[in-house]
Amino acid sequence: MLPANTLNRQVAIVTGGGTGLGRAMALEYARLGARLVLASRSREHLEPTVAEIQKAGGEALAVPTDVRDPAQVDRMIQETKKKFGGVDILVNNAAGNFICKAEELSPNGWRAVVDIVLNGTFFCTRAAGREMIAQKRGGKILSVLATYAWTGGPGTVHSAAAKAGVLALTRTLAVEWAPYKIRVNAIAPGPVATEGASSKLWGNPEAERKLLSKIPVGRIGTPQEIAHAAAYLVSPYAEYINGEALTMDGGEWLGKGFLAVQ
Ligand code: COA
Repeated sequence: MLPANTLNRQVAIVTGGGTGLGRAMALEYARLGARLVLASRSREHLEPTVAEIQKAGGEALAVPTDVRDPAQVDRMIQETKKKFGGVDILVNNAAGNFICKAEELSPNGWRAVVDIVLNGTFFCTRAAGREMIAQKRGGKILSVLATYAWTGGPGTVHSAAAKAGVLALTRTLAVEWAPYKIRVNAIAPGPVATEGASSKLWGNPEAERKLLSKIPVGRIGTPQEIAHAAAYLVSPYAEYINGEALTMDGGEWLGKGFLAVQ
């Protein structure tokens, strides 16, 4: 575990920060001394996590934000500045996904997911990046991917295409913004047991059994494991990591060798 003052008073925005992976990352960042802004569409999702951070002695603010709306994203940055004086870390975690055959996916369904995952990530990254550039003290941007950004994701063409776009965005801005000391990285969790993912993506015992058989380490990951890595990537211990996508999937995406002994 990273020492408790690792993110000493840094200001971190976590989109989708009230639930699932976002919540786990926000709690870990708070444990490490960061001051948190949690942003997602619903205040009800945010308030319990804000209260949990405050109860543990940390600082946190809920800013209801739809990442698809650039005006709301700008307001999220303004609220962050008003409360904490600046922004040091952005985690693009907000996402939307559902399983649907591509030929049955409506244009609106495609748009809904691409808007949240790709456009939302860009709007938040742009707004936070502009602030970081103006502040002249660098920054860290971390986006949540999925391994199907590069393997392809049958059944989730909208999400796979959008996450692939976020990977390209990550690599592009890692170079473009390096002169401003802004590090831009990504983390690609495989299957992780959050309420949203478990119910939406492997919602029955048969689907879960099939999934487990594909994970070399034989289990689904925990939000806490992802949170530890997400903290490391924005910490001073990772100052030389830039433009990287860290895969955390128990080896799932590699388990495809046709001569595999198993
Ligand atoms: N299958 C097929 N189409 C679906 C769908 C599903 N399971 N869920 C939503 N859609 C379609 C809708 O039918 C609609 O298209 P239409 O107007 O042609 O009918 C379109 O997607 C938009 O749906 P809507 O519910 O209005 O969008 P939203 O912006 O409120 O919701 C989603 C966004 C669709 C991504 C929704 O799943 C969501 O909010 N998810 C957040 C939680 C989540 O997915 N977490 C990820 C866990 S891995």
